[in-house]
Amino acid sequence: MREYEEEKRILVTGGAGFLGSHLCDRLLEGGSEVICVDNLFTGSRRNISHLLSHPRFEFMRHDVTFPLYIEVDEIYNLACPASPIHYQHDPVQTTKTSVHGAINMLGLAKRLNAKILQASTSEVYGDPKVHPQSEDYWGHVNPIGYRSCYDEGKRCAETLFFDYHRQHKLNIKVARIFNTYGPRMHPNDGRVVSNFIMQALQGKKITIYGDGLQTRSFCYVDDLLSAMMRLMSSPDDVTGPINIGNPHEFTMLELAELIIDITGSSSELVFKELPSDDPLQRKPNISLAREKLNWEPTIQLRQGLESTITYFDDLLDRNLINA
Ligand SMILES: NC(=O)c1ccc[n+]([C@@H]2O[C@H](COP(=O)([O-])OP(=O)(O)OC[C@H]3O[C@@H](n4cnc5c(N)ncnc54)[C@H](O)[C@@H]3O)[C@@H](O)[C@H]2O)c1
Repeated sequence: MREYEEEKRILVTGGAGFLGSHLCDRLLEGGSEVICVDNLFTGSRRNISHLLSHPRFEFMRHDVTFPLYIEVDEIYNLACPASPIHYQHDPVQTTKTSVHGAINMLGLAKRLNAKILQASTSEVYGDPKVHPQSEDYWGHVNPIGYRSCYDEGKRCAETLFFDYHRQHKLNIKVARIFNTYGPRMHPNDGRVVSNFIMQALQGKKITIYGDGLQTRSFCYVDDLLSAMMRLMSSPDDVTGPINIGNPHEFTMLELAELIIDITGSSSELVFKELPSDDPLQRKPNISLAREKLNWEPTIQLRQGLESTITYFDDLLDRNLINA
């Protein structure tokens, strides 16, 4: 199966963000023309600065909650703040971004008869009662909590994708992304990988919520993008939802120790109370991705952390942490 679609015009919403900017890189490498749409809420020009003079790249500052009229063959819909501190900053805007953003992008896809992929999330499973989570699990989600603007917004976006598929025969792809990390993550997004790395590099105490025995699975960005691009070029009957993530679990304590080891930091661990609605365990069942996309992650956590740490170290060296 081909990962790259050649000579297509592809829209990436959220293209100046962490995952989106890497996706723009990969699509350009494959020969496509890329239109990156982003309102720069959590994304940055720095993530795409190396692409601005590329002849097949175009950046448009635009908020996906407003309609967009351009001509493209494929749409990757990634626009949405992804970390709790960002998506809880303006929860109403977060829901609008997922829901109105989906309606606007699906409307565009319908008008153009374009293929459209939604970057959904493992958060649609909420605090799951089933482990590991497979795509047929409907989830255990709080509709009125602090995380709901994100979780329910993404669930509603999935509903819209499938209704456009059934009602308008739109060619859709829904990827449920589990925790992903790598260079160009936000250094201050409060997520566990960035938190631990920043604390270790700055010699600060490493904050563990709860007893540190809760587990997470971490997928490196390159692995994730291979799966997303394979999903986009999969046969039309492969709509998803399809889990993309790394099923290998680590406890927060193991992650902290690995980061301390790689950075050679002398940081100590401190334990704090677990925030409300924080799931104790989340792990993807990726059988469907193995079967339909012939994909599984290949990059080991240590290897992925090394390049992420190098990136953060460079930001610190150049004093670009808050830039
Ligand atoms: N990184 C992960 O672990 C992860 C996990 C699950 C799902 N996802 C999903 O993948 C997508 C990308 O996540 P990311 O980690 O790259 O986050 P990110 O915050 O780096 O990227 C999101 C991008 O969307 C842009 N954006 C936000 N609201 C917008 C709006 N209204 N209009 C236009 N642009 C807007 C932001 O400026 C940013 O560039 C998101 O949809 C997220 O929900 C990510």
